[in-house]
Amino acid sequence: MSRIDRLLAAMTLEEKIGQLTMVSAGLTPLGPCLPHDARSEIALGRAGSVLNLWGVERTDDAQRLAKESRLGIPLLISFDVLHGHRTIYPIPLAETATFDPLLWEATAHAAAREAAAEGVDITYAPMLDVSRDPRWGRIAESPGEDPWLCSQVAAAKVRGYQGAPSAFADDRVAATAKHLAGYGASVAGRDYAAIDISERSLHEVYLAPFKAAVAAGVAVIMPAFVSLAGAPMTSNRHLLRHIVREAWGFDGLIISDYQAVAELVTQGVAADMAEAAALALAAGVDIDMVGGAYARGLALALERGLVRSEWIDEAVRRVLALKERLGLFDALRPRHRAADAEPAPTPASRALARDAARRSIVLLKNANSVLPLSATGRRIALIGPLADARLDMLGPWSGAGAAKNAVSILEGLRTALAGSDIGYAKGADIATSDFDDLQAAESAARNADVIVLCVGESAQMSGEAASRARPALPGPQQELAEAMLALGKPLIMVLSSGRPLLVSGLIERADAVLATWFLGCEAGNAIADVLTGRWNPSGRLPVTWPLELGQVPIFFSEGPTGRPPDANNRYSSKYIDLPVEPLFAFGHGLSYTRFIHRNLRLRSHDLAAGDDLVATIDVCNDGDREGEETVFLFTHDVVASVARPLRELKAYAKVQLAAGKSATVTLSVPVAALSFLDASFTPVLEPGEFEVYVGPNASPRALLKSTFRVRGGA
Ligand code: GLC
Repeated sequence: MSRIDRLLAAMTLEEKIGQLTMVSAGLTPLGPCLPHDARSEIALGRAGSVLNLWGVERTDDAQRLAKESRLGIPLLISFDVLHGHRTIYPIPLAETATFDPLLWEATAHAAAREAAAEGVDITYAPMLDVSRDPRWGRIAESPGEDPWLCSQVAAAKVRGYQGAPSAFADDRVAATAKHLAGYGASVAGRDYAAIDISERSLHEVYLAPFKAAVAAGVAVIMPAFVSLAGAPMTSNRHLLRHIVREAWGFDGLIISDYQAVAELVTQGVAADMAEAAALALAAGVDIDMVGGAYARGLALALERGLVRSEWIDEAVRRVLALKERLGLFDALRPRHRAADAEPAPTPASRALARDAARRSIVLLKNANSVLPLSATGRRIALIGPLADARLDMLGPWSGAGAAKNAVSILEGLRTALAGSDIGYAKGADIATSDFDDLQAAESAARNADVIVLCVGESAQMSGEAASRARPALPGPQQELAEAMLALGKPLIMVLSSGRPLLVSGLIERADAVLATWFLGCEAGNAIADVLTGRWNPSGRLPVTWPLELGQVPIFFSEGPTGRPPDANNRYSSKYIDLPVEPLFAFGHGLSYTRFIHRNLRLRSHDLAAGDDLVATIDVCNDGDREGEETVFLFTHDVVASVARPLRELKAYAKVQLAAGKSATVTLSVPVAALSFLDASFTPVLEPGEFEVYVGPNASPRALLKSTFRVRGGA
């Protein structure tokens, strides 16, 4: 008899429900701690997992409590290690801008190493919600607007957090693909709001990254808070059982979002906790996160015949199976215990964080080559509420990160330009109307040759429960920017944010603009590396950057219309008061050099199903310094049984080029990847004419075009 069978046979119903119940530690100034009631629940075998706990002492203590319970079943200890644990890396939206799967994997592994060393077994990452609405605060946590790109991130992050799919090494944690699915389509960009999307969008856009995560072996899935067409994800039996578990073959754990099972009552599908617990368990939710719904309602649901005892056993099995895979029965993790009570970033993790951060920076504009700053002679005025804001550089969900371990922009620039005259003034607050530092800002700016204006959002204005109906510069920052621009000096705007900020007017008037997102603990050094030219910016936008909020949702893989936008045709799909083009296209990002793209050619224009589409393009570095270019390949299925998006991202490639050098870049796509879901949502590859577009971003103006055919009977 296996250990799991033995335990199941010995468990009381209360202990089984305990394994399906998660309690939470609370955060105190000294770090997380388990409240008394949670401690007693664990000791009595009424809680089998914990949220928000880390630290060798604290996790050992919690595991000891569990070991001393009647059956001594160890705990699953979980935490949101989304972009770092002690060392904080760029937020996911920023890191996606590197378009580097090896980097995505490396930072996940580094974060897993730090978290596992402090007793964490499960991280609630990667977040895989395709996001196309800058009003939604959680766009910061996402890999951006494209399902194919999000799927690449999904696979890389699962590899990084978990390592080899068989078992978890000491420096790995179980990853969670969250929040399944469609959360990024919350109505009006308002967090937690219901979603109303087509079944096709659900499958083609929002489920795709989760399917990729399951294929990569992700251990846990978390359903989203939202409801789709009246069916909350937490009790969506069709999605969770029939698609995720049966069609995709997912045999891992499904953990609800925070209190989401209990909230099925508020969602209007359950009359009480017993019904809520029954719906969630029937849908396949194994663990109730902190809501107490299973603890309060599952026994009653069983009595009422709303659930079967085998469903409870099935869920307990999956929980115990993950504990076994994590080796928790055999030895207390962490085997590589963190040395100190409060570990800090190491030189190695800081080097990785700095590299990830500077490669996440997107140079949006650089008129008159005002950047890079020359190392000597220039008097610089560093102005703005985000110039010396260590904590905000960490962004939302900053784990066990600490402001004391972060480098502000001011600190980074002073280190990089030691000896230079760098004046600093906050100028204004981020959120309040406090504007009393304006004089100091104007004075510093008047004494300078160039102004570096550091504005944007605070970390609290991004992430969960941070939707903004006006995603521009909050507080008096707009006035501060106007005052700085009025001085008529070269002005570089550094935007710190968890989303594309709608500041078109300021971008138009600034000489240079950097999208620096929230870059983590090495933000200041990374931004200084780019400002001074030590690093030639290479980031590319993972989301379309709107001109105005009225264009939202705006994304490149839009479906076709019978009346394509035509400035010369009134009766075409456009606005009468705004262009349809975004301010910056998906993939946009400038360099301190210049690249020219020529001569798109295909190895063959006539392909069968088993072939690869192979495109080559010549890229020339036409500038005066080395740089990295990224080129993207999009396809369009011209005629199909279901109208296909105008452009679908299928591949990208990077190339490093010295000044004046050229290279031929090759991009290859299996023809099978041109399949899509037919009217009955069955994957199909249809023969016919295809267009292929290759270039530095998704703007039609930047793309070279060719065509090819997929042969019939392929
Ligand atoms: C939150 C978030 C989810 C997170 C969980 C645990 O409400 O929606 O992303 O993993 O609770 O912190």
